[in-house]
Amino acid sequence: MASFSGKVALVTGGTQGMGLVSAVALAKAGATVVIAGRDVEKGKAAAAQASAEVGRPVHYLSVNTADPASVEQMIAQLLQNHGCLDLAFNNAGVTSPTAPMAEVSITDWQRVIDINVNGTFYSMKYEIAAMLKSGGGAIVNNSSVAGLVAVPNQASYVASKAAVIGLTRSAAIEYADSGDGSRPVIRVNAIAPGPILGGMNSPENLAKNPERTARKKAFAAMNRFGTPEEVAAAVVWLLSDASSYLTGTVIPIDGGALAGRRL
Ligand SMILES: NC(=O)c1ccc[n+]([C@@H]2O[C@H](COP(=O)([O-])OP(=O)(O)OC[C@H]3O[C@@H](n4cnc5c(N)ncnc54)[C@H](OP(=O)(O)O)[C@@H]3O)[C@@H](O)[C@H]2O)c1
Repeated sequence: MASFSGKVALVTGGTQGMGLVSAVALAKAGATVVIAGRDVEKGKAAAAQASAEVGRPVHYLSVNTADPASVEQMIAQLLQNHGCLDLAFNNAGVTSPTAPMAEVSITDWQRVIDINVNGTFYSMKYEIAAMLKSGGGAIVNNSSVAGLVAVPNQASYVASKAAVIGLTRSAAIEYADSGDGSRPVIRVNAIAPGPILGGMNSPENLAKNPERTARKKAFAAMNRFGTPEEVAAAVVWLLSDASSYLTGTVIPIDGGALAGRRL
């Protein structure tokens, strides 16, 4: 089992869904964990719930990752509270309303790009600066299978999640090796989940559209949704030294969805 004793970890979008489950897993493996999100009441409640589950404090900081000043301020606060940053899971993200491209509103397009692309960039920019001061670190970005293959009527989401993979690869090669060992190494990888229970796949959302729910389930060769715990296990592994020779990779967690198609 991974041991993150003495490490400080940040999970953006850590106040619910797979972010919260991953935060709890990191804390159970010994990390001091900070979860961050916009909704302060939800964030405080999530931190209290996680603290009770772990048996020691899990911390909350407010952030809007689409606002660079907010991200800079949140990281500064984290450093003031905890002294360093070693690990980050950039999970904050939103889906787009379902519509063919010609009908996508400019407002919706910009909202998805602002949060999923710009938010991931702002987060990495300030996290990397902090990690360089702490002697290195590891980052996992949450993309999606929709960042690897297009799904219809989700252009902004598909484009945003492909961009997350581009950002991951760029940072990975920039911070893998300074050539002369003078700069700490930061490993940067992405996960590409398929349909995962919770969050955008909450029981209420799934019940609203049974046909779409059945299609999503059948998308995975395993013919089921994944669980947030199955995502968290990959996040813990990618942030741990057990994956020390991996950087710039994208790991689908998709029940075989991208492996092929049934005839
Ligand atoms: N669920 C799936 O099937 C699936 C599949 C592939 C990829 N993903 C990706 O996995 C990630 C999490 O998905 P989920 O289903 O667990 O989502 P979710 O339950 O909707 O949770 C999203 C989290 O992100 C936070 N967030 C959203 N916008 C933010 C912003 N601008 N600044 C800071 N925090 C923000 C939310 O908190 P606040 O609202 O309080 O800010 C919340 O904590 C997303 O990036 C999503 O694209 C999900």
